[in-house]
Amino acid sequence: MKLDDLKMLKKKQKIVMLTAYDYQIAKLLDNSGIDLILVGDSLGMVVLGYKNTKEVTMQEMLHHTRAVARGAQNTPIIGDMPINSYNTVADALENAKNFLNAGAHGVKIEGNKPRVIKALLTENVPVMGHLGLTPQSIHKIGGFKVQGRTEETAKVLIEESKKLEKAGIFSLVLEAIPWKVAKKITESISIPTIGIGAGPYCDGQVLVTYDMLGYFDFKAKFVKRYLNLKEQILKAVKEYNQEVREDKFPDISYSYD
Ligand code: KIV
Repeated sequence: MKLDDLKMLKKKQKIVMLTAYDYQIAKLLDNSGIDLILVGDSLGMVVLGYKNTKEVTMQEMLHHTRAVARGAQNTPIIGDMPINSYNTVADALENAKNFLNAGAHGVKIEGNKPRVIKALLTENVPVMGHLGLTPQSIHKIGGFKVQGRTEETAKVLIEESKKLEKAGIFSLVLEAIPWKVAKKITESISIPTIGIGAGPYCDGQVLVTYDMLGYFDFKAKFVKRYLNLKEQILKAVKEYNQEVREDKFPDISYSYD
């Protein structure tokens, strides 16, 4: 599916996106029937152990995008432009092209940057927007907090969504905003909204894959765990530890003659 075709799914079929940062997960997601894979800059927190996404570099994003692209041959991949990679139009163009060369089919940028978006579109780079809790701006927006709770801030979000639509984005991620505001935005624009912590009325949903798999203790209100991976990994590792110490593993059946 071409990224622009995604627009046609609005009001017809929910759009499903998940994050991937490596070859194996990308390969699994590629065979799962989801619509989009996002190489999110959540990479920084989930995989690289940074405190927030502001430390993630372009080099790190490209390294992981290449791995994801080797694993996902059929599902469109979105590369998340990291902080400082689109401060100027020239930077945005160069970095977005590097994402496409690494195997991405489009890029996502946070905030309201119509000039950058228009420049990327003239170079045929599909752009996904991202409003609400934009983690690259956590210090400006007061931390990892729900956005758009007041009438005034909700209005700003609605206006910015319309501006981004006009600039030409093919879809818009709405992160951590009240469901009523997300509903209003979804009804106000003709491109699909993809929510994360933005309630059920968005045109699609995205989650960080390791969150929904229960890979770690942290759990935001909007995350549903479909698996308890952390517990399962710990159980397996403890069992292996015990069996090696007790001389139960490996037995002859795991050994070469
Ligand atoms: O970086 C990321 O994973 C994201 C999603 C949470 C939308 O931006």
